[in-house]
Order: sequence, then structure tokens, then C-alpha cells
Amino acid sequence: MIISALKSNDASDHRSPIHIDTISALIELDSKILFEEGIGEGIYTSDKEFLDKGLKVASRDECISSSDLVITNQPLNENEVSSMKSNSTILGIVNPFANQELINLCAAKKINLVSMEFIPRITRAQKMDVLSSQANLAGYAAVIESAKYLSTALPMMMTAAGTLKPARVFVIGVGVAGLQAIATAKRLGARVEAFDTRDVVEEQVNSLGAKFVKIDLGETGETDQGYAKELSQEQIKKQKDLQSQVCARSDIVITTAQLFGRPAPQLIDKNTIDKMKPGSVIFDMAVESGGNVEGSKVDEVVEINGVKIIGVSNLASRVANHASLALSNNFNHWICDFFDTEGNNINFDFEDEIINSSVIVHAGKIINERFQ
Ligand code: NAI
Repeated sequence: MIISALKSNDASDHRSPIHIDTISALIELDSKILFEEGIGEGIYTSDKEFLDKGLKVASRDECISSSDLVITNQPLNENEVSSMKSNSTILGIVNPFANQELINLCAAKKINLVSMEFIPRITRAQKMDVLSSQANLAGYAAVIESAKYLSTALPMMMTAAGTLKPARVFVIGVGVAGLQAIATAKRLGARVEAFDTRDVVEEQVNSLGAKFVKIDLGETGETDQGYAKELSQEQIKKQKDLQSQVCARSDIVITTAQLFGRPAPQLIDKNTIDKMKPGSVIFDMAVESGGNVEGSKVDEVVEINGVKIIGVSNLASRVANHASLALSNNFNHWICDFFDTEGNNINFDFEDEIINSSVIVHAGKIINERFQ
């Protein structure tokens, strides 16, 4: 089997799907491994370092057209998919909800498509879960980025020149990113409060030393995959009203609320922003999926009455080396778990829950019902 790893085709994504510290897992498979030239530029790893490990360098076109398995952290374009060998496989972060045409093309061209976004949320699959590995680092980066825009320090400092109060941080949405944002802000000495519609997270918030804000919205709940259910318009309105008091006393508000496969709910509107202190910061982690904050823009800092609203795309890429290390481990685990050493190929065993969930297209058929 020929495996090839592609450099990101988005210049702002510095991550690589392979990493020098984790590449031995793929080397042990005894396959030929190609990589796109310059793949490690964003993480300060030269082509020579990968060549020294026995990998081969190639152009992007050659990687795509000659491989049996292509690993990528961005979707391929239509021309690229068309140039792939029949029965070869794309394994990657492929943003399937925004790429129905690509899915159709993969089916028509008999290219297998595996979406790492659809790794099921079961214990055995945690090691392959790219959404979690990247959200965790994004939660960390959101706090660091927010702190840069604040005119105060985060920890309390008792100095001869006066006592400096700790910053107050409010995290809305306590999934993987939110939990890491809470932990990071706590480590930096801030006073942290948090809210989520899934009240099961209260205990997790408390265990990090933060305070869970109680807002009674009636029946909320979560799906069997642990995702939040969509709230009614009435519930959202109630949440906005009660939350605005907490926002008003906060220096940093970090919003992470997402709904899998649907636009993010808008949770902070102009009314809430008007109540906040000039100099405070709102970091909208959901900006790429519609945004939690009225007026937030991708890759911009918008200022309203002295409140800075920050939206950064691909936050994990801000810590690209660690993000690549985690990402490459996620890819390697999928490949190694489903590699058939005798056939020297991927074993698409649809009895396996991970295969069944993550494979969107196989042998010319769209498997995942959402995209049929
Ligand atoms: P996500 O990125 O889809 O959403 C972020 C958070 O926003 C979630 O906690 C969600 O409940 C919350 N949210 C949605 N609407 C909201 C609203 N109106 N107001 C406030 N908060 C709102 O979530 P993520 O990070 O993917 O995690 C979802 C769950 O899945 C978590 O319980 C997480 O621990 C679990 N999980 C389980 C895994 C496993 O068992 N393998 C792997 C990864 C996550």
C-alpha cells in the first residue's frame, strides 16, 4: 500500500497530518510513505528529517494520483479527487457538512472517503477523535489569545504598588474546548465561572475549581453521542437574559457552544454587549460555524463600545506543533487499527462501529445516511 500525507492547502493552517515524533507507527506498517514537499514547514520540520526516516518526498499531484491512502487535514478539491486511483481512500478532516458535492464525486469515482469528524464518541475511539484533540488545544489557545487583548493581568497580585484583582473569566459551553479553557484560565489565576445547557457538566466545572452558573431553562438534555440538543427560541431568550448579568461582571467571556452539523446558537447579542465593561473581551470560538456572538467576524477583532469581540479561525493551528502531534496520532491509530497486514490494505469491516460511523463513501456508495 502507498500512503501519502498532504500539506494543508489552506495557507493559514500550519498543521501537518504527520509528525516526526509519531511517524514510526506508520513506518512499522511496511508501506511506502510519500509526503508532499514542505509538509512540515508550519511546524519547523524539514523535508530532510522525514527523508532521513525513509519516507519519500513528492509533488502534491504525485502524492494524490499514485496513492492507495491519502491523509489530509483539509478537504481535497474536485480536480484532485478526480485524479485519484479508483478504490483508493481519503482519510481526513473533510468538513462533510459543507462538501456534499465532493461526497457525490467520491461515490461516482469509487474513491473511499473517511471523515475523521465522524469518529464515534466511544471510549475505544478516543485515540482517533480529531474533534476532541483539536478542540482541547483550541480551548487553551482561546484563553491565551484573549489575555493578549486585555489591559489587565489574569492572576491576583499583591504588590507594594497595590493589590491587583484577578480577572473574571466566563466560559459558555463546557465541552472539550470549554473544559480546557476553564483549566487554562484557572492555571493563569483567573476567577472562572461557566455554563452549559447539559447540567451533567456541573461536577466537571466544580472539579476544576470554577463555579457553575445555574440557569434553569427547563428540559434541555443531550444526544446519545453526548452532544447538546437544540434549544427552543424561548429557552435561548431566557438563557441570554440571565447570562447577560454574568457577562456584565466578566473581563473575558469565551463562548464555545456548538451543535453538531448545525449552525451554532447565537447566545450573546447587542443588549448583552452593551452591558459589558469597556476593555473587556469576548472570544467567539464558534465563529466558523455561524458564531455565538452578534457581530463576530472570522479572523477579525470587532470593537463595540470598547468591548473587543474576537473570532479566530482554526485556533488549534496557533499551537501547530502540538496540534500536529495529536492529529498525527489520531490518524495513525485509525490506520493501524484497520490495516490488514496480510492483504496490505485497509480492512473496511462494517461490523466495526468506528468504520461504520467514520466511512462516508465506500466502493461507490454513500454509506452515511445524512449524505445520501
Ligand atoms: P461541542 O463542540 O459540540 O459543543 C461545545 C459545548 O457547547 C457542549 O458542551 C454543548 O453542550 C454546549 N452548548 C450547546 N448549546 C449551548 C447553549 N445554548 N448554551 C451553552 N452551552 C451550549 O461539544 P464537544 O466538545 O464536542 O463535547 C460534547 C460532549 O461529548 C461532551 O460531553 C464531551 O465530554 C463528550 N465527548 C465524548 C467523547 C468520548 O466519549 N469519546 C469524546 C469527545 C467528547
